[in-house]
Amino acid sequence: MENLKSYFHLDSKVTYLNHGSFGACPKFIFNEYIELQKELEVNPVKYLDYDIQDKLKNSKTALANFINCDNDDVVFFPNPTTAMNEVFRSLNLEKNDEILSTNHEYGALNKVWEFITIKTGSKYIQTDISVPFNSSENFIRKIESRINDKTKVLFVSHITSATGLIFPVKEVVNLAKKYGVLSIIDGAHVPGHIDLDISELNPDIYTGTFHKWMLSPKGVSFLYVKKELQSQIKPLIISWGYNNEFIEQTKFQDEHLWQGTNDISKYLTIPKTIEFREKYHWKEISLICKKQIIEFGLVIKNEFNFRPLCNLDSEFLGQMLSFDLDLLISKLKKIKNILREHNIVIPVFEWENKLIMRISLNGYNSEKDIQKLLLTLKKIIKL
Ligand SMILES: Cc1ncc(COP(=O)(O)O)c(C=O)c1O
Repeated sequence: MENLKSYFHLDSKVTYLNHGSFGACPKFIFNEYIELQKELEVNPVKYLDYDIQDKLKNSKTALANFINCDNDDVVFFPNPTTAMNEVFRSLNLEKNDEILSTNHEYGALNKVWEFITIKTGSKYIQTDISVPFNSSENFIRKIESRINDKTKVLFVSHITSATGLIFPVKEVVNLAKKYGVLSIIDGAHVPGHIDLDISELNPDIYTGTFHKWMLSPKGVSFLYVKKELQSQIKPLIISWGYNNEFIEQTKFQDEHLWQGTNDISKYLTIPKTIEFREKYHWKEISLICKKQIIEFGLVIKNEFNFRPLCNLDSEFLGQMLSFDLDLLISKLKKIKNILREHNIVIPVFEWENKLIMRISLNGYNSEKDIQKLLLTLKKIIKL
């Protein structure tokens, strides 16, 4: 693969294997972002007061087309954490109601559920999904076995954060329908990583971000809410669009349009982001990265005895691979120091009493990056 790192602002001296955390934005898109910010500063009132609706409409259409949903059912958010705060706080949960989830969810969102359960007396149940994760059927069976008449919500990541697994969310959504409970899907890692078709998936609520795998500037994310549920979701920020006497778009859209003064130019980069993907064949690049992830997985499994968290040729794997280093957790600090000494950016952390490393590969990574990590891993296993 052509070395595409020069397309990005990434430091050439750093081996960057952590796209999963905050993504990375190519110059092609970032330059457009700066131009849009400059345009805003030329006449802030015109940009933010008069033109805002038209400006956002174009971007919203590009977003809605990309994820295949109705324009009216999706609103911009700076990030999934904020979007999920709004959703969780809007639910009318009562004492002993249950939110059913897994032990693979993103930590900050577990905290939001903690806040909600303390407030309402409801319970957040994190079903234990063990690793290696190799069967959608077992996953669904396990979740289904925990559903009862107190269950009100199924909350599951489409691609998990720490464990980097693609979960079978279509089956989760179907399960939620079967039992008449709400499906809320955290798709933070999904757009640009694997295909997303909201109409086909048909969740009740879905959040995703463009600032990870879509390569947008930071702060470009969305919340999708099915039409019939939109009146239940109360804006986190009450502002000018609340309770409008005259609805301009829809109540849901109006309430989310203005959330206080903000730099909306980031949202306007979406068409350029999609253009970049097409122009530079990023879907094909993503497929190459997925193949490289499998090859890397085979090496660390066979040569280092590390344990990937799922079968390497399975549908649960994308451009990230988490693996169990099978080392004492007390070694964490030393491992981080070695990685830092070698200028390698890759997350290593404790998850379920295991020491896990998660590699992400994207178009800017080269074979040299992978070889450098492998050499450093040789030092790490000797610790
Ligand atoms: C699965 C998952 N959900 C939610 C988030 C939150 O994303 P943000 O920090 O952009 O709100 C992350 C961030 O990495 C994540 O991995």
